[in-house]
Amino acid sequence: RSIKSLTTSSSSHILRRGYASEAVPDRKVAVLGAAGGIGQPLALLMKLNPLVSSLALYDIANTPGVAADISHINTRSEVYGYSGEAELGKALEGADVVIIPAGVPRKPGMTRDDLFNINAGIVKGLCEAIAKHCPHALVNMISNPVNSTVPIAAEIFKKAGTYDPKRLFGVTTLDVVRAKTFYAGKGKVPVAEVNVPVVGGHAGITILPLFSQATPKANLSDAEITALTKRTQDGGTEVVEAKAGKGSATLSMAYAGAVFADACLKGLNGASDVVECSFVQSTVTELPFFASKVRLGKNGVEEVLGLGPLSDYEKEGLEKLKPELQSSIEKGIKFANQVV
Ligand code: NAD
Ligand code: LMR
Repeated sequence: RSIKSLTTSSSSHILRRGYASEAVPDRKVAVLGAAGGIGQPLALLMKLNPLVSSLALYDIANTPGVAADISHINTRSEVYGYSGEAELGKALEGADVVIIPAGVPRKPGMTRDDLFNINAGIVKGLCEAIAKHCPHALVNMISNPVNSTVPIAAEIFKKAGTYDPKRLFGVTTLDVVRAKTFYAGKGKVPVAEVNVPVVGGHAGITILPLFSQATPKANLSDAEITALTKRTQDGGTEVVEAKAGKGSATLSMAYAGAVFADACLKGLNGASDVVECSFVQSTVTELPFFASKVRLGKNGVEEVLGLGPLSDYEKEGLEKLKPELQSSIEKGIKFANQVV
């Protein structure tokens, strides 16, 4: 079976379905922003995922080279590169999962909300195209500020008449990845065994790791839990400062994005008990969107799980985060309704 890198509008991009020799169904994954700092390593990781049969790499520029490069890897999926807005529709057609790391990253001194003015418009345009070309795809939103870009996407889909809350996800997996790593380091427990739910949103104090529910249990003091919480909340800033003007987390984000997309694909394929934290439409709190554990299934969100028992420190953190998260959500909703 040949691996192709198709980079022009005239190229065929017919999906091949129904290979008897393959135990898993064909699945198309599209990465929007595929030539970027996250997009490239994320595309690489999706190329390594045996659940993917077709990988569409879209960006406003530079995708031909990325697609040609990745297409030489001898794994299952066929790779297609799409460059420029005229090719966006073809990139999206037939996609089961669309991952969006398109947009500008932070520089030192910036908040994620400082990215709103540029990224809101980018996300809006991409979501309009998704509504048109693959309205049933699961959308994995990575572009910041996630607390606003997910509500923007929801509003754009509502306007197009395609909104399905089960299919829209803000990717908060990097917060979970960080919480696991930091907890394992401090608690001296095997990192591969660690589980920590992270709830709320994806910016500063809206990121609320629930270390009281972490497993395996580690003997950590209140001061250590406070420090771990703060480090998880500031994890993105730690990377932004270390990169000193050259962007934000890309490699760890690509890993986290690949973990979350893999969970979506497993859910679509009918695997049982696939649970990841994600920022989704929610009734877990009074806020319309909230990150918590989510069970994934054949239609996307199967069940939004509750918060479980919280420590007093976590209860306090939950109340503190609500006003900021609410205002970021409202900002996204307002933007989508003003400009469309
Ligand atoms: P980057 O600048 O390296 O790459 C972004 C890519 O998006 C570029 O290749 C650019 O050409 C492309 N792009 C811009 N406009 C586009 C459009 N209209 N359509 C398609 N592609 C477009 O940035 P990065 O480091 O990859 O970060 C991307 C985004 O991800 C940022 O907003 C960043 O804040 C966010 N991020 C989120 C998380 C998270 O946990 N959710 C983690 C890290 C970064
Ligand atoms: C992260 O958490 O690393 C991302 O949201 C990028 C950033 O701006 O911190």
